[in-house]
Amino acid sequence: MPFELPPLPYEVDALEPHMSAQTLKYHHGEHHRAYVDKLNELIHGTGLDARSLETIILRTAGDDRKTQRKIFNNAAQAWNHAFFWDCMSPKGGGAPARPLARQMDKVFGDFDKFKGLFKKSATGQFGSGYAWLVLDGGMLKVRSSANAMPPMVEGQTALLGCDVWEHAYYLDYRNRRADFVDVFLDELVNWEVVAMRLESQLAQRPVRLAMR
Ligand code: FE2
Repeated sequence: MPFELPPLPYEVDALEPHMSAQTLKYHHGEHHRAYVDKLNELIHGTGLDARSLETIILRTAGDDRKTQRKIFNNAAQAWNHAFFWDCMSPKGGGAPARPLARQMDKVFGDFDKFKGLFKKSATGQFGSGYAWLVLDGGMLKVRSSANAMPPMVEGQTALLGCDVWEHAYYLDYRNRRADFVDVFLDELVNWEVVAMRLESQLAQRPVRLAMR
């Protein structure tokens, strides 16, 4: 099988009490696993099975054929979830350190304004999807996307992503998505990883001032 379920970067109960072991057990062990298994089944013998996840996503994005749509959805969800696990840490939350903090202040005004924008994006996404902090043409932006769509399809680099499908929070927060997003920002975000992602991109292009 070309793709395997990546292990969580922490123990299944490591994010408690903010994200329960039960949530991670289902979200990683059942939902994420199902996306990876289904992807392997769909790409078997298609020639895509030798390609990277990113290549599969970009090659099938926007293709309306039924099987291609299914491949895209499962590949994108396999990627989104691996990315999402790395966005969190048992020692997460708080505020980013410099120089990321400085970049964010320049673009969003201050960290609280960024959090407000990210929360608005996460709660404003109708139905299933994600809230993102992305680098787009050298500009930091906050946005959301519907269903499985990852920012790479629009040429953006994801720096931070929050899964706002109900399966991400329903066991712990029921229908209170806003509470889940608050906890994600205040207690779970691994800002060191976000900073590393930004730094690796900055080496290629400087950040310009913009917000959306
Ligand atoms: Fe999810």
